[in-house]
This record gives sequence, structure tokens and C-alpha cells, in this order.
Amino acid sequence: MAYALETAQSQIQSLLEKACSSSSFEMKNPPPKVDADLAVPLFRMAKESGKNPAAYAAEIAAGLELEGTLFESVSVTGGFVNFKLAESPFTERVFADFAENGEEYGGSQVGAGRNIVIDFSSPNIAKPFSVGHLRSTIIGDSLYKILSFVGYRVIGDNHIGDWGTQFGKLLYAFDVWGDRQQVEANPIREMLALYVRFHQEAEKDPALEQSARGWFKRLEEGDPEANELWQWARDASWEEFQRIYLRLGVKFDEVLGESFYNDHLDVVVKNAFDQGLAQWGEIEALPTEGQGEDEAGDGEDSKDVAQEKVALIHLDDHGIETPLLIQKSDGTSLYATRDLATIDHREKTWKPAEILYVVGGEQKLYFRQLFKAAELLGSKAKCVHVPFGLIRLPAGKMSTRKGNVIFLEDVLEEAVSRSEAILEERDLSDQEKRQIAEVVGIGAVKFADLSQTRTKDVLFDWEKMLNMQGDSAPYLQYAYVRIQSILRKASESVLVAPVDPSLLTEAQEMALIKALARFPETVGNAARSYYPHLIATYLVSLAREFSSFYKAVPILKTEPASLAATRLELARRTAQVLQQGLGLLGIACPQRM
Ligand code: ARG
Repeated sequence: MAYALETAQSQIQSLLEKACSSSSFEMKNPPPKVDADLAVPLFRMAKESGKNPAAYAAEIAAGLELEGTLFESVSVTGGFVNFKLAESPFTERVFADFAENGEEYGGSQVGAGRNIVIDFSSPNIAKPFSVGHLRSTIIGDSLYKILSFVGYRVIGDNHIGDWGTQFGKLLYAFDVWGDRQQVEANPIREMLALYVRFHQEAEKDPALEQSARGWFKRLEEGDPEANELWQWARDASWEEFQRIYLRLGVKFDEVLGESFYNDHLDVVVKNAFDQGLAQWGEIEALPTEGQGEDEAGDGEDSKDVAQEKVALIHLDDHGIETPLLIQKSDGTSLYATRDLATIDHREKTWKPAEILYVVGGEQKLYFRQLFKAAELLGSKAKCVHVPFGLIRLPAGKMSTRKGNVIFLEDVLEEAVSRSEAILEERDLSDQEKRQIAEVVGIGAVKFADLSQTRTKDVLFDWEKMLNMQGDSAPYLQYAYVRIQSILRKASESVLVAPVDPSLLTEAQEMALIKALARFPETVGNAARSYYPHLIATYLVSLAREFSSFYKAVPILKTEPASLAATRLELARRTAQVLQQGLGLLGIACPQRM
């Protein structure tokens, strides 16, 4: 069954279809001063019939038959027809939706039978997990949950950056300056130090770059020493990443990584030449790319290939001036070569309706090139780059290459210890405080990210992130916790009394019901646009509606018992939606705080 609001909208649709000679209508939220729930602009139709918009709208409105719909009245403002919901039937429909869908309320089956691959997180081994990768992880995980909730089978693939020239650098540095014991004790920090040292020394002695490329060539050719060292670096990094994923509560279905495609790269290059798409050529310089830092992905591979013969796919005929590099003169692969092989593999394995790449906006050009090249090579996959802006930490943008990084775990730790300080005064045991602080702190970091329009930069503002009154995770978690405590206080007589939606007549009750009714549509919009912030914004408005409701009417201390039971049901459903919605953002709700 369609949800209440969907039903209401399709009723408007069919009423207007009959009345106007048109079949597509926009449904808007009327301005606050208009006492109605949905407004439909009729300017275009008025123009087509050569009439003044207000007169046309009035004429249409007069002829509408509302009998049997969820609406009680229509009105007109300018060229708009406004529809006002009939409270009692609508409330009953919303309660029926909850009863029918239970915990699944808000979800749907629009994606049923279709697969979506989400490429997300994808950090680079031997490097710290950057804040850019944090964004990809948080946004990707949320999209995973949202798309699953609307019926898709989602395959989350962590495309770890574990292959490329940068490993040549690491292997060289380790070979010359490394100490296994030291690295094992503190893998990422030590490997980073080696990496930084490589760049310092290479500035003095450019020949080092050549040696690093030699090491990468050995790696790609399967040299056992290079491979053993690489495997060891990979395992050590993965162990550290897993600690972060565990803490963030993020899981993947696949962690194939770039190295997985090593055996498929020759085929990619051969195909491109066979199809006449690739040519040998020279390039001047390429843009650098990476997830909010200067070291990642393609940037690394492409920096040192200027002024030499490389295999290129030219894309000028397709409006993209920069060619895509797929092989270097020494036969080694690039980021793009591995990505082309990846698309092919994903297409064959999962036959996905879409492949989403949750990667920073800096790689925009790269993905345009990649998707076009894949298409020219015969791929039918619908690839979508889902970009995001940078995270700005209070100290400003950091660079791994120079070594002055902020470690992600320090950021999470800071959020948790600040949350602990907030919980200081509460009547909770120390252990409880620590557990709750973890849920609140991690939730605050995630919400600060997900409540922003994905494509915008995020400034980490601790005060705002943890403000219990503001648009923050703790505010929503606290609203949830408060409802739990009301539920615990309900007496037996209220718990057994029948729920009767027709008893709800107060303005704040209606406003809360309408807010609850908007959840399914919000989820649908977030899934379609890949915008988790729509859910975040919605949850804040739901919590605000709840708080006005709670201020305006007593929940438990009211007569008859069935009115209390019905208000309690409204509170319980609000908590359910808060928990479900936060869950879609990957944020947990504590039971107490
Ligand atoms: N490891 C890359 C980076 O840090 C991101 C990989 C994104 N996924 C992809 N298929 N290219 O920049």
C-alpha cells in the first residue's frame, strides 16, 4: 500500500488530471500563512488556455470533488490551488501505515530486483586514513543503508589504494632506511615517516624517483621480494583501517582493492589498442587528484610521467580535453588502468543497475574521463560519481606529504572525550558514561558531515557538533532518549488502553503527524539524489515538532486513558523514526544519556 502522503498526492494528481488538460503537476509546500498542506502551481496550464492564472486556478478549484479523498478543502492563492488535509482520515492513514510497516516504516521496494555497487572509503595503504576518506566512508555507508532501505541489493566495495608508484616509493624507502621492528610497532606512522623522507630526499636527488619506479615495476612483475614487502605493508595498514571501521561501525561486502586487478590490466590495455582507442603519445603534465589531500590516487601515478611516451585514450571528440593515461613507457599501470579493469569486473560479477563512486570532488575530471573511456571500450554500466567537498579541521588543510597530518583517530578521540565532559554531571556509572560518550561522539562527527549538503565543504566546529540544543546528533539522540523515558513511565492502564487516532485534534498533534508522514518521501528523495543530508535535516525538524508537541500537551497525565495511549503511540512512533533515520545515517541511539 502506498504511504499516506503518496496517496494524498496521487489523489491530487488524478483530480487535477480530470480538471485540467495536463498530466504533470508540481506539488509544493504552501507558504506558512496559507492554511493548507500541498500547493499546486497552475501557471503553465492557465497560460495554455489563455487565462489569468488566479482566475484559472479559482475556476479549477471550484470544480474539484473532494468526496472520498484525504482532503477536506481547497483554496486559491494567485495561480496556486491549495489542498488542506482532512485531519481525522489522514491521521488514521498514518497510523495504519505504521501498523502495516512496523519497523520498516519509511522504506520501500522501488529498487527491488536491482543491484547497486557503491565504491566507498577506499583509503590508500601505508598512509594514514585521511579526513577525505572519512567523508567517503561516512557518506558511502549512509547511502548503502538508504539504498538498501528502498529495496536495492547493495554491494559495498572498498577499493583500497594498494597498488601504484607510491608503493615503489615506500618499498625503496623501506629497503634503504627502514627498520622492520620499528615499522611493525607503529606501522602507519612509521610508513608515513618513510614516505615523507622519500620526498625530502627525492627533492635533493631526483634519481630516487627512477628507483621507486623500478621497485613498482618489480612489484607488478611479481618479484617475490617486492611482493613480500608489499603484502606486509598492506596487512599492517589493513589492521589499522579495520580498527577505524569497527569504531565507526562500517562494513563492506568486498575489499578487493586496486591490486586485485593486476592480472586484468594487460587485457584492458590490449583491448584499448585493438579497438583503436589508445595511442602512444606524450603528455606535458597532468592534474593531481586525491581525496582532499595531495597524495592520493591518480595524482601519485601521474606526476612523474610528464614528457615521456605513454599510452593514452584521447577524449577530445567527447568534450574532454585531457586524455586518459592507461600505461607508462615501462609497461606499468596507472590508477585509471586499474579502474577500467574494476568496472569490467563489477559489471560481470554483479550486473549492477548503477555503480556509485563516493569520492571527493577533486577527482571530478578523472571520473568524467574514466566513465567516457569505459563507455567507449564497450561498458554498459551506469557509473555515477557522487562527489563531496573537503573537511576543514580547525587547524586548516593538512598535507600528508609534508608529514603534518591530523590522525583520524585523534579526531574521533577528541569527539568522544568532549562528549564525556558533557555527560560529566549525569547520574551514570563511569563505564556507562564511556559507552554513551562513544556513541554520542562518533554520532556527532558523522552528523556534522551528513547534515551538510554533500558537495559543500565541512568545517569541524566542536561546539556546534556537540550542542545538545542545535542541529546535532546529540540533540536527536537526546530526543530519542527522552521518549524512551516517557515510555518507561507509562502506567498499566495507559498501556492497555486502545489507541484511537480520532482523539487527536490539537494543532501540535497534527503537526507531528504530518512530520511523521513526510519520512517515507524524505527517504525516497535521499535515495534518488544520493543526498543523506535530506534525512538529517528532516530529523531535526521532526525532533523540533516533537518538542513543541511535548510542551503543548501532556502525554501521560491526561484523560481518558485512550487519549494518553494515543499520544504515547505518537511519541513511540516518533522515537522509531528518529532511530530509523539516524540508523540510515549510520548513527546509533543510546538508551540513556
Ligand atoms: N584511493 C583513492 C584515493 O584515495 C580513491 C579510490 C576511489 N575509487 C576508485 N574506484 N577510483 O584517492
